[in-house]
Amino acid sequence: MSDPYRPIKTRVEKVITESPTIKTFVLRPEQPIEFQTGQFVEMTVPGIGEAPFTPSSSPQIQEQMDVTIMNAGRVTSLVHQLEPGATVGVRGPYGKGYPLDKFDGKDILILGGGVGLAPLRSLLYALYAGPDRFKRIVLCYGAKTPAEIIYKKQLDEWRRMEQVELHQSVDKAAEGWQYTEGVVTVLVDDVEIDPAKSVGVVCGPPIMMKFGTQKLLGLGYADEDIYLSMEKNMSCGVGKCGHCRLGPFYVCKDGPVFTYAQLKDIDKIWD
Ligand SMILES: Cc1cc2nc3c(=O)[nH]c(=O)nc-3n(C[C@H](O)[C@H](O)[C@H](O)COP(=O)(O)OP(=O)(O)OC[C@H]3O[C@@H](n4cnc5c(N)ncnc54)[C@H](O)[C@@H]3O)c2cc1C
Ligand code: FES
Repeated sequence: MSDPYRPIKTRVEKVITESPTIKTFVLRPEQPIEFQTGQFVEMTVPGIGEAPFTPSSSPQIQEQMDVTIMNAGRVTSLVHQLEPGATVGVRGPYGKGYPLDKFDGKDILILGGGVGLAPLRSLLYALYAGPDRFKRIVLCYGAKTPAEIIYKKQLDEWRRMEQVELHQSVDKAAEGWQYTEGVVTVLVDDVEIDPAKSVGVVCGPPIMMKFGTQKLLGLGYADEDIYLSMEKNMSCGVGKCGHCRLGPFYVCKDGPVFTYAQLKDIDKIWD
């Protein structure tokens, strides 16, 4: 990467409303952007500001990048007003993604909550794209209500795919909901899996990351086999400003994907 600060001019090609608070922006950069699944980019909106997001599209496609964005505050609320044809800047990718070589030959148990499914969608694309490197891919996905579920079409496709075993829950069901009601961790109770031969991946809001990790530890997963995608307020994105400090780490440079073994001795990792 010659200049990690230089944003690449990128056109918003399509905007997909996923839920009342979440939209996916299909972006076409002026030049291909290569990334590893789990890495993040900084998106700059002229006159508005900048924020970090993890691509939700396949790392094998470099001419197009999807970012799925929750309306969380100042920048993201204005991003939500962008329409097809708008221009944004994308710089990066930054940080360390999922170490797929460490997943080789293993079962993969993925716990996702809310917009946390965004980086996991990219991970799933990467996992099942290759030859049968991974034994079994189990996705447990939870949202607050059926209306807040993202990627509904994609979830239907995964449900039909042999390579993916999908379990779904909502905290609060509505009429017509045919899957589990309860927090996402209860889904794991229905999964028969050998922790010694699998890795666990957790991505979602901090409370879900905490209980998801505890669930995997309770099942017997080793600290180094639990992969967490961490979010911290960021600024430079390249390990210079210190905004994203987490114990001895900078999330932007040393993460955002960490093993629980790396983080477990840090105070307040879920704050
Ligand atoms: C590596 C990384 C990847 C991310 N990927 C995604 C993604 O794919 N999709 C997505 O919707 N969001 C993602 N986020 C979170 C996203 O960056 C924040 O929601 C966004 O920066 C909020 O900006 P804002 O100006 O709209 O909100 P603000 O007005 O700045 O803040 C609104 C609220 O969000 C909190 N917040 C602000 N920045 C962050 C941050 N970086 N991380 C966590 N909380 C924050 C604030 O503390 C505040 O409570 C990611 C964050 C990181 C660090
Ligand atoms: S965002 Fe500047 S050091 Fe991580």
